[in-house]
Amino acid sequence: MKQTTISDLKNHVGETVTLKGWLYNSRHSGKLVFLIMRDGTGLCQCVVFIKNVSQEEFESAKSLTQESSFSVTGTVKAEPRSVGGYELDVQKMELVQLAHEYPITPKEHGIEFLADRRHLWIRSQRQWAVLKIRHEIIKSVRNFFDSRGFTLFDAPIFTPNSVEGTTTLFETPYFDEGSAYLTQSGQLYGEAGAMAFGKIYVFGPTFRAEKSKTRRHLTEFWMVEPEMAYYDLDMNMDLMEEFVEYIVQQVLTNRRAELEILERDISKLEAVKRPFPRISYDEAVEIIHKKGLPFEYGNDFGAPDETAIGEDFDKPVMVHTWPKEVKAFYMKQDEKDPTKAKGVDMLASEGYGEIIGGAQREDNLDLLLEKIREHQLPEEAYNWYLDLRRYGSVPHAGFGMGIERTVSWICGIHHVRETIPFARLMGRLKP
Ligand code: 4AD
Ligand code: MG
Repeated sequence: MKQTTISDLKNHVGETVTLKGWLYNSRHSGKLVFLIMRDGTGLCQCVVFIKNVSQEEFESAKSLTQESSFSVTGTVKAEPRSVGGYELDVQKMELVQLAHEYPITPKEHGIEFLADRRHLWIRSQRQWAVLKIRHEIIKSVRNFFDSRGFTLFDAPIFTPNSVEGTTTLFETPYFDEGSAYLTQSGQLYGEAGAMAFGKIYVFGPTFRAEKSKTRRHLTEFWMVEPEMAYYDLDMNMDLMEEFVEYIVQQVLTNRRAELEILERDISKLEAVKRPFPRISYDEAVEIIHKKGLPFEYGNDFGAPDETAIGEDFDKPVMVHTWPKEVKAFYMKQDEKDPTKAKGVDMLASEGYGEIIGGAQREDNLDLLLEKIREHQLPEEAYNWYLDLRRYGSVPHAGFGMGIERTVSWICGIHHVRETIPFARLMGRLKP
């Protein structure tokens, strides 16, 4: 018998095939049992008619519990009214394991109850759809850079110094060297890579001991960080918008069914086309003030401020040229206004807030040293990084996009905890 998957049924209409999976849902009425099977690729209604199977098989079908594992053999039929558009007329059914009482039932459960059972929750339709879209996003990230001459460049996870401030470091003992810190960003290593390969991207897990319980903060998240030699701030922004447009359009093309499961407003995603608006920090502050929010010039934006800025546009917006005090030590000082740094954040549309942070980097050795001292960072730990400004320093730029925040925006879901298989948050280390 030909074994296939639910996602491939469209190629087997009229044929007899075998499906292997788990029971998602079922109902029966007299001589018919309707088994909704899930096999990891989709859902399919399998119709068991009493006259087409043995007495034993019919009883077994009737008594299947939620998430029991089983296989079925039958004829594939196109059925537009059925979930997934196809049905199986069952001729043979085999039980693999009768599941114990499954804790996640079709009724509503609280979020903590579900999060404690994340290892099972990922079998649910919505969670499944989100993680399929996550995969699509990661695939398109790789595709984008691989097809544009970028080299994948892996940065270490154990590091001797901070990148994004010293308040969110996870510290761990490291033999005779004392302490190591889990990386907050691979950027500094990425800069070394850009000087060796021209254009690189770092892609891996990053860690922040964020003591904030918000819908946007994980302690462990994935970040993709391209870094390009001979790039300035404008070229960086050109790349950012081309990149984000590409990802969104790939998801629209390849994961439409999953977006529909999530009831995502597709027209909002279709609007994500270049060019994206570019405004300076000063212009962003004007927008916030016009809306009457109590924002003090010179601060970083909070979530409500980002929402206020984002609301004015139907596309992601790039906010550039920031007061240097708000931003990291490595950002290039603006030649026109030395109080400003050449940073850029991309705020997603629909009020989702920051998904990308980036900058043109300080390429002047003396100015960079000054910044390291200003930020009271241990000079010794950055000595290797300063070498990049000693030996053939060039203008260069890059950015980092958080995968989970991007998934949350594209899927239209509220909290980042549903955008990664096993979320790590303040207050959650299990399962
Ligand atoms: O703005 P951030 O801190 O920038 C950097 O780390 C730079 N070194 C990147 C670079 O230029 N190579 O972080 C970049 C992005 C944010 O815009 C956000 O999407 C995500 O990483 N991010 C988080 N996502 C989830 N939970 C957290 N705690 C996050 N912190 C940052
Ligand atoms: Mg940032």
